[in-house]
Amino acid sequence: MKKYSFLAVLFCFFGIWSFAGAREMPNGARLYAENCAGCHGPSGEGGIDVPPLAGMGAESVLKKLAMYAEGKAGPYADPEMAAKARALTPDERAYVAYYAGTFAQPWNK
Ligand code: HEC
Repeated sequence: MKKYSFLAVLFCFFGIWSFAGAREMPNGARLYAENCAGCHGPSGEGGIDVPPLAGMGAESVLKKLAMYAEGKAGPYADPEMAAKARALTPDERAYVAYYAGTFAQPWNK
C-alpha cells in the first residue's frame, strides 16, 4: 500500500511540473496573434505600408527578425518593427517565425 501512495505523490508532482512547463512554453500562434497580426494581418497577408509575410518562409522571417533586433535591417527599418523584434527573446522569435512560415502565398492556397 505504501508503495502505491508514493507513486501517487510522484504522479502528482509530475502533473504539476508538466503543467508549469506547458505554461512557459512559447506558443508561435499566440505570439503572432498578440505581436504581429495587428500589422501583418492574421494570415500574414500584409497591409497598407506593411509587407506580407505569407510565402516568405520561416527561415527568412527569423533572419529578418534577428536583423531588426540587432539594428541591422537598414536605415529605413520601421522603428516599431525593430522594437517588436527586440521585445521577443530569441526563442520566442524562433517560434513566431516558425508559425509565420506556415502562411502560404495567397496564390498557392
Ligand atoms: C507596428 C506594426 C508592425 C508590427 C506590430 C509588426 N510588424 Fe513586421 N513590419 C512592419 C513594417 C512597417 C515592416 C516594413 C519595415 C521596413 O521597411 O523595414 C515590417 C517588416 C517585417 C519583416 C520583413 C519583411 C520583408 O519583406 O523584408 C518581417 C519578417 C516582419 N516584419 C515580421 C514581423 C513579425 C514576426 C512580427 C511580430 C513579432 C511583426 N513583424 C510585427 C510592421 C509591423
